[in-house]
Amino acid sequence: MRNQQYPPGPAGEFFIGSARAFASDRLGTISQMHKMYGDLVHFRMFGRHAYLINDPDLVRFILVEHPEFFHKTPLFKRATRNVIGNGLLTSEGEFHKRQRRLAQPAFHHQRISAYGDIMVDFTRAMLDEWAPDETLDIHEEMMRLTMQIVARTLFHADVADDAHEIGEAITAGLRSATRRTTTPLAMPEWVPTRANRHAKQQIAILHQTIDRIISEHRAANTDQGDLLSMLMLAEDDDGERMSDQQLRDEAMTIFIAGHETTANALTWTFYLLA
Ligand code: HEM
Repeated sequence: MRNQQYPPGPAGEFFIGSARAFASDRLGTISQMHKMYGDLVHFRMFGRHAYLINDPDLVRFILVEHPEFFHKTPLFKRATRNVIGNGLLTSEGEFHKRQRRLAQPAFHHQRISAYGDIMVDFTRAMLDEWAPDETLDIHEEMMRLTMQIVARTLFHADVADDAHEIGEAITAGLRSATRRTTTPLAMPEWVPTRANRHAKQQIAILHQTIDRIISEHRAANTDQGDLLSMLMLAEDDDGERMSDQQLRDEAMTIFIAGHETTANALTWTFYLLA
């Protein structure tokens, strides 16, 4: 019998819990859990307790109202650290609060509306390239579009030439991080497996690109109206600014957090419309 102190959810298999179901069909498993057990589901993965939250008020409770009760797991932090370092998505507590305060002005309403024209321009340019009756991979198109937008708004950079390379590097980095959070028995990253070597190489490309953009910004030494300039100029109460390392971590975080999510949302919108 299930222990009643936990919310409802699938019993799963001996020891591995729901791990096999997740590995074979993550989206199907999550949808099924929500359909069968509701907005708060409890399940196990390799003996660990896990919860699926599907209710906006509960999400708000966790992320906004009471983050002090909820911690990012060491597994998540270890897996993502190599890709996005100690940025807003991975940091916690006082450090997170400080970084959050420093980054806040970059997301002011006025600043965001100024990005609207950039979004429209890139979208128009993409549509001009589409031909009637052509078959397109809509996810690829949306990834390219949102990456161009985030690169311009975040870095004042044109990544059209590098887009493919950067896209591949991000996908490899994210895949490696996801594999680590969902497969606890994955080979440690220092083991030179093919997948590990590939991920390492791709992450290095990504870091080099971001570092190049940061040093170009430092050299220009002016507010270029982009997010990176805001992050560079932001000062905390003691007049301290972010180091290059911190800038890279936050820039990588926003670059990754800000484009794949949006591309996915757009792709699913097209799917539903179709
Ligand atoms: C449909 C689009 C998006 C979705 C579904 C989405 C989803 C999320 C979720 C679920 C979190 C919370 C993660 C956690 O704390 O565990 C998050 C955090 C975050 N997102 Fe997004 N996001 C989207 C778009 C964006 C965009 C466009 C940007 C920036 C340009 C962005 C930047 C961030 C940042 C910086 C955080 C960390 C905030 C913090 O902890 O202080 N996201 N996002």
